[in-house]
Amino acid sequence: MARVLIAGCGYAGIALGMRLAREGHVVWGLRRRPELLPAMIHPLKGDLFVQESLPVIPAASDFVFYTAAAARADDASYSLAYVTGIENLLRHLVGTGQTPKRIFFTSSTAVYAQTGGEWVDETSDALPCEFSGRRLLEGEQLLSRGPFPATVVRMAGIYGPGRTRLIEQALRGEWVLQPARLRYSNRIHRDDCAGVLRHLMLLRAPTSLYLGSDDEPSDQSEVLRWLAKRLEGVLSAPQAHVIANSGGPRSNKRCRNLRLKQSGYSFLFPTFREGYESILAGMDLLRR
Ligand SMILES: NC(=O)c1ccc[n+]([C@@H]2O[C@H](COP(=O)([O-])OP(=O)(O)OC[C@H]3O[C@@H](n4cnc5c(N)ncnc54)[C@H](OP(=O)(O)O)[C@@H]3O)[C@@H](O)[C@H]2O)c1
Repeated sequence: MARVLIAGCGYAGIALGMRLAREGHVVWGLRRRPELLPAMIHPLKGDLFVQESLPVIPAASDFVFYTAAAARADDASYSLAYVTGIENLLRHLVGTGQTPKRIFFTSSTAVYAQTGGEWVDETSDALPCEFSGRRLLEGEQLLSRGPFPATVVRMAGIYGPGRTRLIEQALRGEWVLQPARLRYSNRIHRDDCAGVLRHLMLLRAPTSLYLGSDDEPSDQSEVLRWLAKRLEGVLSAPQAHVIANSGGPRSNKRCRNLRLKQSGYSFLFPTFREGYESILAGMDLLRR
């Protein structure tokens, strides 16, 4: 059984930690508010942006995951979360004599600047024009040049239980204005995000980079239309009104997950349909 440190243990990190802990691995979760961690994850209090606040890790970690996220969508917050935090953690691990077999970082598909609906994979150019992609790429590079073997997983948008913005939009009867052309977005269910990270941890020799995205890039309006249809019997005032497409500003690409699947990973929720079906069931919102 492995000893695992999850630094920045939030929505995806907790799902990963719970899964690993249930399987018998020993899991520490580091965050500023460790009181929010479930009992199965051993709490560690520390601020990744403040080197001196980082706690001594009670035992040698076999694997480390960096899953902290930026608090706001601005350059300073991204720089803290994806550059300073990673630098501090690496320095802290080295300084306290930790020698993990591998460190994993949940980066983002925001590192790709492609906007023509083209397919992207691990071999595609990552030449971000926006601060978000640039800072994430900086963090990736810090890890790949760092002292430990590293694997970066560029995650698509993470959705799942409790992340219900689109469902609420559908419940309000908000329909997305069809844009002139399709604008693809990419997503991964929280449990697949955790599943992918666990799978890579257990692989004998993971490569340095994977895309973490489900099988079906789709236009957000298609997801909303599917949700609205699925909720037909539930909408009390189905007065649909049109809103502007709220997808990312210029984002339009399709993420290919072939490398991940060839490594042996099977998605629990291969498309948004299975994912949202399970979330709706959990919310007791399905037509009976
Ligand atoms: N959400 C998405 O759609 C998406 C898409 C692509 C990639 N990702 C990446 O996937 C990872 C997981 O995302 P998520 O949605 O699970 O994030 P999340 O729920 O926001 O969790 C991030 C956690 O990091 C902790 N954290 C933030 N700053 C910290 C600091 N200075 N020191 C210690 N802990 C800190 C927070 O806890 P405290 O506030 O208690 O410290 C929080 O629990 C992130 O790396 C994110 O960049 C996310």
